[in-house]
This record gives sequence, structure tokens and C-alpha cells, in this order.
Amino acid sequence: SHLKELIQGIPKTELHLHIEGSLEADLMFKIARRNNIELAYKSVEDLKKAYKFNNLQEFLDLYYLGAQVLLHEQDFFELTYEYLKKVHQQNVVHVEVFFDPQTHIERGVPFSVVINGIYNALKKGEQEYGITFKLIMSYLRHLSEEAAFKTLEESLPFKEWIDGVGLDSSELGNPPSKFINVFKASAAQGYKLVSHAGEEGPKEYIYEALDLLKVIRIDHGNRCVDDEILVKRLVKEQIPLTLCPLSNLELKVVQKLEDHPVAKMLDKGILATIHSDDPAYFGGYMNENYYETAKALNLSTTQLKQLAINGFKASWLDQEAKEKHI
Ligand code: ADE
Ligand code: ZN
Repeated sequence: SHLKELIQGIPKTELHLHIEGSLEADLMFKIARRNNIELAYKSVEDLKKAYKFNNLQEFLDLYYLGAQVLLHEQDFFELTYEYLKKVHQQNVVHVEVFFDPQTHIERGVPFSVVINGIYNALKKGEQEYGITFKLIMSYLRHLSEEAAFKTLEESLPFKEWIDGVGLDSSELGNPPSKFINVFKASAAQGYKLVSHAGEEGPKEYIYEALDLLKVIRIDHGNRCVDDEILVKRLVKEQIPLTLCPLSNLELKVVQKLEDHPVAKMLDKGILATIHSDDPAYFGGYMNENYYETAKALNLSTTQLKQLAINGFKASWLDQEAKEKHI
């Protein structure tokens, strides 16, 4: 269709992608077999039938279960390289990838195994496809700040490969304020700061992420629309919001895509962008997120191009690289 071709033709950035959330069911089975791990599901079809979520936690339970097949450097490499292959076909030219070291360290997989696999694949993707990249280590907010501090410590030998830190996992009951000290220490190491906020949690968590953690970008941030003062601030300071419409739909953050706030946010002047979060679980990569959102909200060509331009503006590319696209 015309709309699909238009979206395909726009160079895009992926700024909100959990690499563990790009583990497709068939690859999960392949790696499980290789590692002699028995999955709780008989087949790919069986597993995919379980991809029905009423909220964030129901998804996270399955996402952490799936990640248990990842043991060796080769597994992390393959996961990441398969992802890049896919988005290269979607005209994604720059990615900023989250990884969750604690999900793996807690199972006895060394930090070095995780990051070597991911980083080597990102390097190969850059050489083969020209996809530039940044890497963001995310702390799991359902764990303690002390655990996050240990992770920060373990990351330091690989500091040159890591551009930023984030905060993800179960939002309700785990406010940004729980992580003030570790974010401060992360900034002192030169890491850039982002945080999930206002996905399921209230707008107050967006304020906390900005004021207490000092993040430069908010992941999701849907709930800002509840607060005109917050919206004005996001516009004035041009704080990017990395939105994930299909994720929001699958996790019931919105009841239908027609209710998604992205069009209103663009109208207000918010630096909103569209991304895929956990594409293997939510049924869509970048182009599908653009397409389904465009259809539901009747987005214009100008709005779609604006979303992509916002992606470059919100990225951590240097000014010269950004200007080729904005
Ligand atoms: N980890 C992976 N996907 C996530 C999401 N959408 N929200 C919070 N944590 C996550
Ligand atoms: Zn996310």
C-alpha cells in the first residue's frame, strides 16, 4: 500500500528496544534446544498463544522466562544480529539498544558474556548494514538500589561500550526515587541517563525521573497528558518521549490504538517518537508500529516524517550525523 511504502521509505531510528524483547519464539526454541533447556511450552505456536497480556507484569513474567535460554556469548550475538537483520530491512539506520544485565547475572551468566555477544553483533551490524548504535544498560526497578550498584560496578570494565543507563521492569511501586544514588553514581561514570516513567505508573514518576534522576529522555511517558504544566515543561525543554504504541496496546496502557496520545503530543509540540519496545512479544517492529498508529490516528505524511525526524533529534548521534536526517 501507499502508506506502507511511505513508511518503508523513511529512514528511522530505534530508541526504545529491549534486546531481550526481540527474542522471537522460533529463535527461543532453537537456542533452548542448543543449550539443552526444556521450555514450558511444547511448540512455537503454543508459546505464541501465551502472548496475551492484561498488564505490564504479565508480560514481564513471560519475558524473563524467555530470557532464560540465553547462556552463551553466541546466544546473545545471535539474538542481536537477528534483530539487526530484521530492522535493516525496515530502513532503520540507527539503534539505541537496552539490555538488562541483571536478568542474566542473577542466573550465573557473567556480565562479560552478555555484553561481548551483544556488542560484537552491533559492531558487525554496523559494518555490514551501516546501522550505527548506542548501548544502554538498564537497571531492573523491581530489584534493590544496592543490586543496581553492583551492576554499575560490574559494567565499569566495559564502560567504553556503554553509552547510558536506563530503568525498566515493574513500574508500579518502584518509583524513580528508589534509584537516586545509583543514577548519580552512573552519571559520575559518564553514562547518559534515561528512565521508563509514566507507562503504567503515574505522572509523578515522570517528575521524579526528571527532577530526582536527572534523565535526559523519558521512555513511554504516556501519563504526562494528565498534567498541562508537565506538558509545557516537556515542550520547553524538548525532553524526548520514546513512545511504543503496539506495546501500549498489548499491555493495556491504551484500550485501543485510536486512544493513543501520540498525535495530541505532536500537536502540543512534544518531542515524541515511535519505537517497538519488545517487538517479538508485541507483534511489530518499527514499520508495524508506524503503520498501525498511522492508520488508527489518521496521521498525515507530515506527522509521520516529523516522528522520524524527532527520532534523530532525540538520538545520541552527534550533531553532524543528525543533520543528515533533520
Ligand atoms: N522491560 C521490557 N519491556 C518493558 C516495558 N515495556 N516496560 C518496563 N520494562 C520493560
Ligand atoms: Zn521499554
